[in-house]
Amino acid sequence: MKLTEKIHYVGVNDRDKVRFEGLWPLTQGMAYNSYIVKGEKTALIDTVDNRYFPLFISKIKNVIGNGKIDYLVINHMEPDHSGSLGLLRSLYPDIRLVGNKKTLQMAEGFYLQSGETLTVAEGSELDLGGPRLKFFLTPMVHWPETMMTYELESQTLFSGDAFGCYGALNGGVTDEEIDIEPYFPEMIRYYANIVGKYGAQVQMAMKKLSETNIERICSTHGPVWTNAISRVLDIYNRLSLYEGETGACLIYGTMYGNTTAMAESVAEGLVSGGMKHFVMHKLGRTDESYLLADVFRYKGLLLGAPTYNNGIYPLMERLLTDMEHRSLKNRLVGVFGSFSWASQAVKRLQDFASLPGMKLVGQPVEMKQGFSKEIAEQCRELGRQMAQQLSAEDGEA
Ligand code: FEO
Repeated sequence: MKLTEKIHYVGVNDRDKVRFEGLWPLTQGMAYNSYIVKGEKTALIDTVDNRYFPLFISKIKNVIGNGKIDYLVINHMEPDHSGSLGLLRSLYPDIRLVGNKKTLQMAEGFYLQSGETLTVAEGSELDLGGPRLKFFLTPMVHWPETMMTYELESQTLFSGDAFGCYGALNGGVTDEEIDIEPYFPEMIRYYANIVGKYGAQVQMAMKKLSETNIERICSTHGPVWTNAISRVLDIYNRLSLYEGETGACLIYGTMYGNTTAMAESVAEGLVSGGMKHFVMHKLGRTDESYLLADVFRYKGLLLGAPTYNNGIYPLMERLLTDMEHRSLKNRLVGVFGSFSWASQAVKRLQDFASLPGMKLVGQPVEMKQGFSKEIAEQCRELGRQMAQQLSAEDGEA
């Protein structure tokens, strides 16, 4: 697949893996993107998961025949991109690994690589005889060694994980030739799952790139972006600033339905307060991957859970921990919960709501044992307060 006269797509689709990183569901598969840049010298940008090595090599040979690969540029060492490094070097023993100091240390650590290397730093350039590569170090987007490579002639950015998304590429590669709409929700989910912890680092990378004209973004996952570049940059900018849209995500856990009754009343309060734009999720029914996506999407967050083993319902504890690990901020938070004899859940939820960047909305609602009219009204009031606060902040924006 030719992207320009000198840039070719040689990535592969993974339609087999059930969970990315063993954690996140891949309902539409995953693309591991790799590219060849061909001048007088040939550079391969990143590799693919090693289970797809035979297909990968056949794609490379379709482009270069029996020619050699002079450089392997490693933008990111996570094995979904570096996995074929060892096998590739066994076929091309003279290939020179291009990376920054940390990349090359990791290459040695993961794959016992000890051949030819070229160490690059911020702003280094590599002339391929025609195309010229320039390197931007973008640490922690998503590992410490991550960098991006910019081809100056075609103004193409090879961005690593950044601007990527879940989803295999169905029959085409660029946003000009395939229906890209299904990829955008998967971009939010991918960001929330994989990159969400590193908002500040994504912002730093975007600032670094802001002076650079970009005609084409070649990420390691998802479509090659050309027409939709500004939309993609806007999504990544908002997500990395933790800017949620006006609306709410209501997530609750329950064992016997009592906390469900509370959640239903909170939802009624949202609607009676004028808020239609919200989603509800029951813990254990929807995979956490999707919960995190909606948490990143919406500004309002309503959380409810029962007490369990003198703590909070375990699935809620996992969600809270994962949101804390992602340094979630800029959220309006409302909380409710239940207990039978020892109150713990609401206390834990309030601790979460008091983290920096969180704003507690309304009164926490706590229910002892059974659901009552009084509790129903308190829950409705919590929903109304959230709706009103969201509208008020939307008006100020
Ligand atoms: Fe697609 Fe961080 O690896």
